[in-house]
Amino acid sequence: MDDETRARRRRELLEGRKRLPMYATRERLLRELEENETLIVVGETGSGKTTQIPQFAHEANLASGRVVACTQPRRVAAISVARRVAEETGTELGDLVGYAIRFEDVSSAATRIKFLTDGMLLRECMVDAELNKYGVVMIDEAHERTLQTDFLLGTIRGVQERRRGTDAPLKIVVMSATLEASSFSSFFHDAPVVYGRGRTFPVETFYVEEPEDDYLDAAMCAVCQINEDEEEGDVLVFLTGQEEIESLGRLLRARSKLANAASGVRRLHVVLLFAALPPEEQMRVFEPTPPGSRKIVLATNIAETSLTINGIKYVVDCGLTKQRIYHPRSGVDELVVSPVAVSQAMQRAGRAGREGPGKCFRLYCESVLNSLEPHVKPELLRTNLGGVVLQLKAMGVDDVLSFPFIDAPPKEALVRSLELLFALGALGKDGKLTSVGKKMSRFPLEPMAAKAIIAAANEGCGEDTVAVLSMLTTDSVFKQHERGAGGVREKNTAREQHARKEGDHVTFLEVFRAFQGCSPKRRKEWASSNGVHLRSMLKALDIFKQLSRAAEGEGVEMKSAGSATAPLLRSLVSGYFLNTARKQADGSYKTMSTGQRLVIHPSSILFHSAPEMILFNELVKTNRLYARDVSSIQPEWLAELSPNVFSIRKE
Ligand code: CDP
Ligand code: MG
Repeated sequence: MDDETRARRRRELLEGRKRLPMYATRERLLRELEENETLIVVGETGSGKTTQIPQFAHEANLASGRVVACTQPRRVAAISVARRVAEETGTELGDLVGYAIRFEDVSSAATRIKFLTDGMLLRECMVDAELNKYGVVMIDEAHERTLQTDFLLGTIRGVQERRRGTDAPLKIVVMSATLEASSFSSFFHDAPVVYGRGRTFPVETFYVEEPEDDYLDAAMCAVCQINEDEEEGDVLVFLTGQEEIESLGRLLRARSKLANAASGVRRLHVVLLFAALPPEEQMRVFEPTPPGSRKIVLATNIAETSLTINGIKYVVDCGLTKQRIYHPRSGVDELVVSPVAVSQAMQRAGRAGREGPGKCFRLYCESVLNSLEPHVKPELLRTNLGGVVLQLKAMGVDDVLSFPFIDAPPKEALVRSLELLFALGALGKDGKLTSVGKKMSRFPLEPMAAKAIIAAANEGCGEDTVAVLSMLTTDSVFKQHERGAGGVREKNTAREQHARKEGDHVTFLEVFRAFQGCSPKRRKEWASSNGVHLRSMLKALDIFKQLSRAAEGEGVEMKSAGSATAPLLRSLVSGYFLNTARKQADGSYKTMSTGQRLVIHPSSILFHSAPEMILFNELVKTNRLYARDVSSIQPEWLAELSPNVFSIRKE
């Protein structure tokens, strides 16, 4: 884009910006920020909090020449908002306005407005405990109460206290889309709250008469009906995860093709939106709807508050959400589909009333509403704290039980995390970080993954383990093909060709090696003929390079064990020993640590082979508990590689 086009675009955008509620509140916001060290801002989704307030702070030089940081719980939001603000300021992304997410930094010495995930800012705290680069830190989407946001709130309050009275005090802005702001205000010594005057239109809500047993089918009917009966306007459908979003996407596209021939109805322009989608694909939701068609956005709760999609007039809400739930006793995370909170149901409906009156179709009965929790439970109260505790220790917070969390996590979960870190060898008996623990804390990975890489040094397979973790860290490497009537078995050529009896991890390694061995020119073709996403593979390769560098920095040699697979699996066992299970007489599995029952997920290479003992990376709970990304391991490795683990087992 040349300078002139950029300037023209900037002027165009300014007109729209002036109409935003936050723009009208500009002077008030700046005055409050001048006078107070902390400010809480509450405003409807789409009112201009994220895109405008960082610009105001920068223009008024509130950061005194330092950087204005604005944190986001989601990577996609950090990227899309940075792009937008770069456009609004008429600058190239990475100059004045930049972003940083894990494994990707688009900022420079010139950057003064930086959007980053909360996790990234926490990482920066480990390197520079005073965050001296920043003059203003805005914590956005605070109402989501993600683990990293809560951890950041406690950390940043400490930074502010330490910088108070120096020549570089720190200003903090906490931004939230829900009215409940008192807990933030009292956490920051009764900081003032500014409410943006949002303007929203009425949204008419509809319910189903009787409970739907297949809400995917119900969602499809709702979309088709809206398309046939309702006037112009785009549709936003809330579903729980990637798999169902993809399958509804396929159904709707197929249906639209058929219907198109029949004429009369609008073409459906279907776009998908979930966290695992590559950022470039995620950006497609912002493209204008092609004339004569209706945009149908199929999204997870990502579209609840952190992204604003223009043109939405209809919302279809399945009423469910996928949450990561941690079992302190087993130390294992589970993904569980559960009903939304009332506040989420309202946010979802609200998406339909931003530009005019809208309609929200809830795929559940009105009576269900009474049984919903009023608010989302903070993630801190239901998730694995191992990573947080490791980071706290690395930041020099020895007594993690006294860390100022806005809501204290259950003591049991903290103690459990300390035990896990002890079992991993990250903490000594005195509760202090060991040299292994220090190394682990410097990897941008969960403690278990970091430990696997460090253990790989002893096994002589650093390169192999880093490759597998790079593949696991990359979302959706394998393309999903048509699903059979009843099952969800994926058919992936690469997976099948490279399938190894040892399981999914070795298969990941084989696919990675095959791709890495391809000349860059042939990669595209290789990806398409092998049923993998090129972009995901390139991402995995990039993560591999970054993790390799990090591993070498910690003294892990990048050696490969070649065709020997035991070293890789042993290094994984050293990290993921809690994620292991033994086969039972009925063919199901029982976890070694707590005796939870589970079965191997149909997407696994090992679905049909049922080895004696397995290691897995993830548990997914639907009607049953499924283990995903599974390998067959030797039972005797457990005692050898995790001698502490059974001593922390509580039956
Ligand atoms: O943060 P908040 O939800 O309050 O709003 P925002 O993200 O700052 O968005 C303000 C407005 O900018 C929205 O209403 C959109 O109209 C527009 N916007 C956009 O068109 N494209 C984006 N990528 C981001 C924002
Ligand atoms: Mg926002």
